[in-house]
Amino acid sequence: MNRSIYEHLAEDLTARLPMHMPGHKRNDMLAPYLKELGAALDITEIQGFDNLRAPEGMLRDAMERAAALYGAHRSFFLVGGSTAGILAGIRALAGEGGGEALIQRNSHLSVYNGLALCRLQPAYIPQGWEKNLGIYYPPGEQGLLAALKNHPRVRLVVLTSPGYEGLLADLPALVGLAHRAGVPVLVDAAHGAHLGPDGRFPAGAVPSGADIVVHSLHKTLPSLTQTALAHARTESVAQRLEEQLNVFQTSSPSYLLLASIDGCIRLLADKGPVLYEGWLEVLQGVKEWAKRLRYLRLWQPDEGSPYGIDPSKLVIDCSQASIGGEELADRLLREAGIDLEMVASRYALAMTGMGDTAQSMDRLLDALLAVDRQLHAQTKECLPAPFIPSAHMPPFQALCSPWERVSLQQAKGRTAAEYLMRYPPGAPFVVPGEHIEASVLEEIGDGHSLQFTRTRLFPGQIAVLR
Ligand SMILES: Cc1ncc(COP(=O)(O)O)c(C=O)c1O
Repeated sequence: MNRSIYEHLAEDLTARLPMHMPGHKRNDMLAPYLKELGAALDITEIQGFDNLRAPEGMLRDAMERAAALYGAHRSFFLVGGSTAGILAGIRALAGEGGGEALIQRNSHLSVYNGLALCRLQPAYIPQGWEKNLGIYYPPGEQGLLAALKNHPRVRLVVLTSPGYEGLLADLPALVGLAHRAGVPVLVDAAHGAHLGPDGRFPAGAVPSGADIVVHSLHKTLPSLTQTALAHARTESVAQRLEEQLNVFQTSSPSYLLLASIDGCIRLLADKGPVLYEGWLEVLQGVKEWAKRLRYLRLWQPDEGSPYGIDPSKLVIDCSQASIGGEELADRLLREAGIDLEMVASRYALAMTGMGDTAQSMDRLLDALLAVDRQLHAQTKECLPAPFIPSAHMPPFQALCSPWERVSLQQAKGRTAAEYLMRYPPGAPFVVPGEHIEASVLEEIGDGHSLQFTRTRLFPGQIAVLR
């Protein structure tokens, strides 16, 4: 097999003098941080290496290997996370002619940003709601069918699967419905890069026939932060996607990131079965062990649920315990040095990945057990499904309209000029152009709880239309 990109970096750079960027000149003696961060191998596209914008050599080979692994027509390496693939993918499929796109309300901010860039107005596919924890279910066929009927001229459907909590949509059915209505589909599978290469995990998004699928390698697989893939179903989609990726991606891609993507794909191709087996064993151990928890639980969708679940997400259910997700996460960090991925009022999310071990899980579970021993049972009211505020104008229009900052109290009844959300997960509960209801402000409280965040970042204030 051809040498990996990492091997090219490790072997081919030693005798060469870099009279080009980056300015550290691969001199990792300059400062400890450069050595620790791998500056000795940090190059962008120089002679003998390939060009991400028009790959013909090692990058093209590596992308072909990725496409073969996932069963895609063509795959592209992303150095700007799934975000780059989602922005480019939306523009590739919907163009700039405006109109409407059907999305999930709990879509990631990058989906909303992609729509705004293309002057697309979001319309929402109905979704169910898990009322004990407060989690959106993925859309079902009936919901998508109704949405397609109500929005007959829609330009694009964007689905998110897996969701942040690991719920899986029936993608083949949903994609089939959209395609029969003549509408292209992008799947934000940022959380599902590990689904597909191994049959013991649930099926991935690529075989669903979606036009574009976007995967963050860095979220669950052994690859550096920011690394991701975008897969295209046909050559014409691939060409449009490539054009748009060249708009949204840097012209100086980091070869550390590119080598990491290549390394990850090769690792899955060479040692995938062993690594997946190890991960599944670790997860099986967690499920067994978690039976010892008395009040905290590992959440699963109800028996008979139509939704699949990605076993790698550990949703720690606090709905029957005398603790909330935020306090649980604080205690795990303070008492055991454990950082969780995300918190919500009724749950906390521990993400596992291929790099986890039985030891890392033992540490998590011991800490959970220690907290659990100090809890008691508590009955909590069901959480009402969030309602979608009325919109006075589409986000792309609100984002370009004159605005001002007001205090949280003064924002009631005004029209939002920014996204309001918690990050993570980065799914907005108010979108620019929407009416700011009193209930939203109650949820935000003083703005400090549950990692509430804004896109126009003024502490204690909200941007509203003038
Ligand atoms: C559902 C979803 N889509 C897209 C993204 C963006 O991914 P990235 O951080 O790789 O740009 C995220 C990030 O958390 C996400 O949760």
